[in-house]
Amino acid sequence: MPTKDGVIGVFDSGFGGLSILKEIVRSLPQYDYLYLGDTARTPYGTRSQEVIYQFTEQSVDFLFKRGCRLIILACNTASSEALAKIQQDYLPKHYFDCRVLGVLIPAAEQAVAKTKNNRVGVIATSGAVNSLAFIREIKKIKPSIQVFQNPAPLLVPLVEEGEHNSPMIDLAIAKYLKPLLQKNIDTLVLGCTHYGILEKKIKQIVGSKIAVISEGKVVAKKLADYLSRHPLIEQQLSRNGHLEFLTTDLTDKFQKLGSQFFGSDIKPRTIQLY
Ligand code: DGL
Repeated sequence: MPTKDGVIGVFDSGFGGLSILKEIVRSLPQYDYLYLGDTARTPYGTRSQEVIYQFTEQSVDFLFKRGCRLIILACNTASSEALAKIQQDYLPKHYFDCRVLGVLIPAAEQAVAKTKNNRVGVIATSGAVNSLAFIREIKKIKPSIQVFQNPAPLLVPLVEEGEHNSPMIDLAIAKYLKPLLQKNIDTLVLGCTHYGILEKKIKQIVGSKIAVISEGKVVAKKLADYLSRHPLIEQQLSRNGHLEFLTTDLTDKFQKLGSQFFGSDIKPRTIQLY
């Protein structure tokens, strides 16, 4: 059995975060990872801030009790609506020596690095868009950047129905991107776990002049950088190259699409969070 201490937890509202975990494991295969997808309560993107916080706190608490030392909120909605409160209130009270990181700041940093005309577009869930977190994080780095957001609520259900190659999704993507393209953006952030699988399609639609930021590789790179700058955390991470997948509801979708998002077959187990 792998050691139960010093694991890196990766949390998402469902299986989408497996696309982020895939890139993290590819770039940092030596560590142990515990993935938790809250499939029983997905989607988070349409819920209120209070509920997203409550669900995320329960999940983070579970992962810490299972020996995680560092947790990545792979879910953009949880990163937007719950991360700040977890870092400011929850961690100092309950796990002052542990860390929780999100996916928004890596995406924001990459957008700032890429844009030349200072006009960045973001598509994400309604929850993430309404939180204004992408705008906040991008402007924190460079206040002169103009950020244009559009919620893309149909993309998650269409991807979850396995429609990511259908003409239906092309129509939805075109509709969501139109107002952003009209703003003359030169950089587009795909601010949701489910959009990475649409990256090729989206690149074809927006053309080569617009930089498309998909989070998997960016988050993996930033995590490696974070660990190199935080040796006290890094030294406490266990290194058996072990992967464990947990879900609050083991649906066919989680098994099938989860394996597709992760890039190889996964064997998830069901757990009870509450
Ligand atoms: N994981 C969510 C995100 O990245 C998308 C799915 C959901 O709405 O729960 O925002």
